[in-house]
Amino acid sequence: MASVSVRSLVKRFGADAAAVNGVSFTVREGEFVTLLGPSGCGKTTTLRCIAGLEVPEGGEILIGDELLTSAGRGVCLPPEQRRLGMVFQSYAVWPHMTVFENVAYGLRAQSVARAEVGERVTKALELVGLSGLQDRNATKLSGGQQQRVAVARALVYNPRVLLFDEPLSNLDAKLREQMRLELTRLVRELGITSIYVTHDQAEAMVMSDRIIVMHEGRIQQEGVPQAIYDEPASRFVADFIGVTNLLEGTAAGRGGEGGVWVEVPEAGARLLCGRRAEGVEPGERVTVSIRPEHISIEGAPAGPNRVEGTLTEAIYLGQSWDCRVRVKDVSLRVQAQGEVSLRPGQRVALGVLPRRCVLLRG
Ligand SMILES: Nc1ncnc2c1ncn2[C@@H]1O[C@H](COP(=O)(O)OP(=O)(O)OP(=O)(O)O)[C@@H](O)[C@H]1O
Ligand SMILES: [Mg+2]
Repeated sequence: MASVSVRSLVKRFGADAAAVNGVSFTVREGEFVTLLGPSGCGKTTTLRCIAGLEVPEGGEILIGDELLTSAGRGVCLPPEQRRLGMVFQSYAVWPHMTVFENVAYGLRAQSVARAEVGERVTKALELVGLSGLQDRNATKLSGGQQQRVAVARALVYNPRVLLFDEPLSNLDAKLREQMRLELTRLVRELGITSIYVTHDQAEAMVMSDRIIVMHEGRIQQEGVPQAIYDEPASRFVADFIGVTNLLEGTAAGRGGEGGVWVEVPEAGARLLCGRRAEGVEPGERVTVSIRPEHISIEGAPAGPNRVEGTLTEAIYLGQSWDCRVRVKDVSLRVQAQGEVSLRPGQRVALGVLPRRCVLLRG
């Protein structure tokens, strides 16, 4: 077990803009941290630098206080000396080999004694719940089982840290959900420090102790899943994580409970915004982010943030309604709960609590 520190990491490929451009973060011992971001934002490159598969142009990587990589000092330990385990998207199980042989392969290549190989492989297969299948040909396994072989293959080396690169994205939706829980339970039980890469925000929310959101080679925000969702730090994060309404406005002055009044001309509204309101000055241009499920429809609470609009779309989803409500010049996405009956064309009252209105600057 070990902590991981990445400091000012820079990695370029040729003359293009840096794939990773000054990334710094720390993963505590036993913590499960996810690098989340859209395609091309530098997640895999960051992970490969940690694994020692890429040599960065700048920055340092440490496990505990052991220096693995230092661009300045010309240090870059080869992958096999780092004692990290890596699990990739393609399960990369070897066909024509049994489950046991797949997991044993690397140990045998290192000339580990036969009895020890047997012991370690048996233990790793037990941990991932594949004990009964050790003599099965690896290609005769389900996708989820193949993925577990890949995890066992990483665990058999007793890694200090596990690195995962989109390990579940080849599985069908239902299996993917099940494996999310299985995988997190396993690494939590083992207490192994884990760094997980995905572009799937739901996956990141479910699995992680902490999420690091990346965009164009840089970190946009890091925090626990709830903080990332409820208090996005930028327009990019608000938009990338889940669904949100973004309204352009101008700060007008202080209101109750530390909130800031924002004039939103396109909605003909004045909204009291209670999140991320610190330091906002009157006259400042801001964006207000409001999640669809935080807007109440019909029985809007009495409070400062009430607007009226016309329902233009109402799709019944069983648990909720997915609605569009026209408020002056904007169309707001609203997720209505309950058994209300909604018909397009009807006038509705909307309400949102100030603490559900997040101010985004810049
Ligand atoms: N070997 C390489 N040679 C040249 N460019 C590369 C190489 N590997 C990555 N890149 C570029 O670096 C940037 C970051 O790539 P990276 O693979 O880290 O993204 P990612 O966040 O993992 O994306 P995805 O979600 O698509 O896997 C991209 O612009 C990519 O094209
Ligand atoms: Mg990738």
